[in-house]
Amino acid sequence: MNRLDYVQWDITSACNLNCLHCREKIIKNIKDDLTLQECKNLIDQIVDFNTHTLSIAGGEPLLSPVIEDVLMYAAGKFRRLVISSNGTMIDKEKALMLSDYVTNVQISIDGPNAKIHDYIRGEGVFIKAMKAIENLQTAGVKVDIRLTLCQLNKNLVIEYIDLAKSLGLSGAYLRRIIPTGNAKKNGLDELTSLELKECLGKAINYGRKIGIHVASADYFCQIEFNEKARKKAERIQKLNGEVIGGCAVGINSFYIMQNGVIAYCPYLPVFCGDLRKQSLKEIWENSEMFKIARSIRFNLKGKCAKCRYKFACGGCRAYAYVKTGDILAEDSGCWLY
Ligand SMILES: C[S@@+](CC[C@H](N)C(=O)[O-])C[C@H]1O[C@@H](n2cnc3c(N)ncnc32)[C@H](O)[C@@H]1O
Ligand code: SF4
Ligand code: SF4
Repeated sequence: MNRLDYVQWDITSACNLNCLHCREKIIKNIKDDLTLQECKNLIDQIVDFNTHTLSIAGGEPLLSPVIEDVLMYAAGKFRRLVISSNGTMIDKEKALMLSDYVTNVQISIDGPNAKIHDYIRGEGVFIKAMKAIENLQTAGVKVDIRLTLCQLNKNLVIEYIDLAKSLGLSGAYLRRIIPTGNAKKNGLDELTSLELKECLGKAINYGRKIGIHVASADYFCQIEFNEKARKKAERIQKLNGEVIGGCAVGINSFYIMQNGVIAYCPYLPVFCGDLRKQSLKEIWENSEMFKIARSIRFNLKGKCAKCRYKFACGGCRAYAYVKTGDILAEDSGCWLY
């Protein structure tokens, strides 16, 4: 059976913000979240798979009334226990609480200054996010920052990396926007493939110059800018048919919604089972949707089908789906091939 290495869990869909680009259908109050007992059962089931990373987001995870108990229960059971937050609620006390349980906190920073970050996330949010980072660092927590790349902030990546440096961070993460949810409603456009190449290339090269590790999830980005990743992709291709890199959904990862429904990923509403009705093992081993996910690389269309890197990359299926309505379509955000 496939190993389950990485689990992404949105513990609540409640949020105190409503960002211009948010993928979520944000609600103000907790509705159908798993109870603490259900959360503990879920963690026990994940632990049975020897999963190394549990990543908790939302909504705003710190709004969940059970978050502290959940983190306390999960602490020490994973190599990486990560929480992603908008940073608005991390005062000194919360930072200390987090330092007891998590290995990393990821704070979203959608631009290098208040003007752009607050335009996307709401007034006063930048200052709070900066304070959160300071509080976390003082409490000894490892902080990562993540920027969602769209037309509004594509020209600010150098300043974003300078910000990471001035905050004393070792890296900065960039991810292209998936035009769904609020992003689609608000017309927050993605970059063209060539704009993306230029932007990520500029960011990665600048990061190398000033000692900041700049990363982006898309495997084609790593193939382009990281020689080791490119050599690995060449080797994988020679194995002909073994999926070793790229999107891990169904291969060794999946996503859990706040109500216990299991889906491909936060951007891809393909549902695989319901933890309130079935066990995780049952879903992982028997879900027809996971079986489909495991065969996707053999059924890709367009340039991804012909691409020499398809077993190492395969493109982002969520991006393909959002752009075309077809999960198998080529990833038009990729500049390779
Ligand atoms: C949904 S949020 C949840 C955690 C927390 N509320 C936050 O904002 O960091 C997780 C990450 O997804 C990013 N995100 C939200 N909508 C997105 C979209 N349409 N495309 C790509 N990333 C998105 C956010 O910017 C954030 O970095
Ligand atoms: S991106 Fe995060 S903070 Fe912004 S509305 Fe979505 S869940 Fe809330
Ligand atoms: S064409 Fe598709 S499989 Fe090939 S590198 Fe680009 S996204 Fe990946």
